[in-house]
Amino acid sequence: MTYREITHGLYWVGANDWDRRLFDELIPLPDGTSYNAYLIRGSKKTVLIDTVDPTKETELLENLRSLGIASLDYVVVNHAEQDHSGAIPCILKEFPEAKVITNEKCREFLRSLLMLPENVFSVVKDGDTLSLGDRTLEFLITPWVHWPDTMLTYLREDQLLFTCDFFGSHLATSDLYARERMRVYEAAKRYYAEIMMPFRVSIKNHLERLKKYEIRTIATSHGPIWDDPQSIIDAYTGWVSDQVENEVIIAYVSMHGSTKKMVDHLVDGLIQRGIKVKPLNLTVTDVGELAKSLVDAATIVIGTPTVISNPHPSAVCAAHLIRVLRPKARYATVIGSYGWGGKTVQVITELLSVSSMKFLDPVILKGYPADEGYAALDVLADTIAQKHEQDPLVIKG
Ligand code: FEO
Repeated sequence: MTYREITHGLYWVGANDWDRRLFDELIPLPDGTSYNAYLIRGSKKTVLIDTVDPTKETELLENLRSLGIASLDYVVVNHAEQDHSGAIPCILKEFPEAKVITNEKCREFLRSLLMLPENVFSVVKDGDTLSLGDRTLEFLITPWVHWPDTMLTYLREDQLLFTCDFFGSHLATSDLYARERMRVYEAAKRYYAEIMMPFRVSIKNHLERLKKYEIRTIATSHGPIWDDPQSIIDAYTGWVSDQVENEVIIAYVSMHGSTKKMVDHLVDGLIQRGIKVKPLNLTVTDVGELAKSLVDAATIVIGTPTVISNPHPSAVCAAHLIRVLRPKARYATVIGSYGWGGKTVQVITELLSVSSMKFLDPVILKGYPADEGYAALDVLADTIAQKHEQDPLVIKG
């Protein structure tokens, strides 16, 4: 795919990765992804904003060649992760005159990750500006979106914010702009869950700061550009807020059907009590879907049989992922079946204990569930309903 003009002198010069199906060797990419880089031709200086994954450096170079770029003054690097920085060595080889503009933390990472020489850098601080002649760049240092090095670059005259990962979505698409709204929204939410959710508090502060800026366009480095930026800003504002939905996620695995029977009963009980519920069978649910489901839920239930005295490994993996992603859920518990004892509740509770979630009494049954077990699940459903009703952070209705 060749370059795309955004406005006079401003171009998308990135690459779509239609076939990529895994990121970080962990996150499934059902729709591939894109690595968006941008070229600004100022009246005096020409600047490249971020680069692409090293597997796509040829496409980036071809885009620059088709634009007739014979020399480059600057490469602005908003973030050192290799899917955006990995083509910098190739760019510097092609354009040895270019200076790398970035912040101190990002410089440190680029030195260690890409072994870039010290003399290519020009380090900027928060609020610094760079004149391109008729256009001006302003740099906003915004750590922990999602690495400690992250910054945003604001193109003042165009009121356009280059946000790298922030507001992004893993979508390979021929749409330059977010036109398929629901599809892009869902992809952006999934991206937020997988990448940004652990840094909710930092992001909340950065969103507050962005209120001071007039923003007409948000140009991310994954997925389409937002020319209606308020829609994604509003979505993020909701995701990072402390409020949760009247919703329960049940992430479960069942070996011989006992735990599944318990999950089915709890699902029905929660629905009858007016609670939205989403059971996720961990044997068929991908990591991204699980992560996305955690964004809004008030309560997380882990359903697991006991295997060799422990929770099922799939349940341990899910609990660990929840621990790492730090969702804002208010309550958590465990349900499941065992044969002859074990420490299932202890292991899951310890895994989730780093968050501020309050633990509700677990329901652990011996063997196949019977009347007493179903009654215990009904009590759990009552408890969840009552907690949600009384909790001011749970959105009702
Ligand atoms: Fe898309 Fe944190 O890199």
